[in-house]
Order: sequence, then structure tokens, then C-alpha cells
Amino acid sequence: MSLIAWRNEFTIGLPDVDHEHRELIAMINALHESLGPVAEVERIVAALGEIHGRIAAHFALEEREMRNLKYTYASEHKDDHERLLDDILDIIEAVESPADYDPEALGLRLSKWFTEHFRTHDARLHHWLASHG
Ligand SMILES: [Fe+2]
Ligand SMILES: [Fe+2]
Repeated sequence: MSLIAWRNEFTIGLPDVDHEHRELIAMINALHESLGPVAEVERIVAALGEIHGRIAAHFALEEREMRNLKYTYASEHKDDHERLLDDILDIIEAVESPADYDPEALGLRLSKWFTEHFRTHDARLHHWLASHG
């Protein structure tokens, strides 16, 4: 089973943003499925680095859209993006200490890291779009 199952709440109503949401979830699920009991630190760090790059680009897209829309909660949303980017760097750092490598804990941390922002900030943008679009 996938780590993060697609849910309708991941759709916010901006087609390019929604497309990237699907891609990002697919990347995280693929990484999770490839995590074995033995640490392959280099490969995992490289995959997380790629996810970090893609997510940074995704956040930049969302922030551009929010500015164009004059979205009410743009600055709080952007703050949470920055927090998430710091978090993934922490996750990468943790993987770099192989003694602490635990694929199950890493999977849970990634899942929480990703879905919390969707459930709160991206969902709020979705509701705002529905009433202002
Ligand atoms: Fe997003
Ligand atoms: Fe967002």
C-alpha cells in the first residue's frame, strides 16, 4: 500500500498546482516503497534532495499564484512553506546518521510532513478559491 493515498482534499482547484501535488505524492511514495531494512544512505539522501528541490519549486509556484490572486492568507501560507523546507533538511540530516536509520519512522515522518500542510494551509487556499473564484 502507498504511504500517502490520494485524497480529494489534495486538490485545491488550480490545475498546475494540483498536477504537482500528484507528482510530489508519487515521488514520496516511490521513495517509501524503495526503503529497505538496510540503510542505503546515499541513495535515500539523493532522493530526498530531489524531493526538496521539487517541493521548493512547487512552493514557489503556489506563492506566485497566491500573490496573483491577492490571497488573504498568503504570508502565513508562505511561512509554513519555509518551515517545511527546513524540516526536510532536518529529515535529510537524520538519514545521514546511519546508526539512527529506521525506515518505518522515516516513512511516518515523511507522511506527516507532507499531509499536515495539505490538510491545513493548502485546504484553506482551496476553500478561499471556492468562495472568491
Ligand atoms: Fe501545495
Ligand atoms: Fe502550500
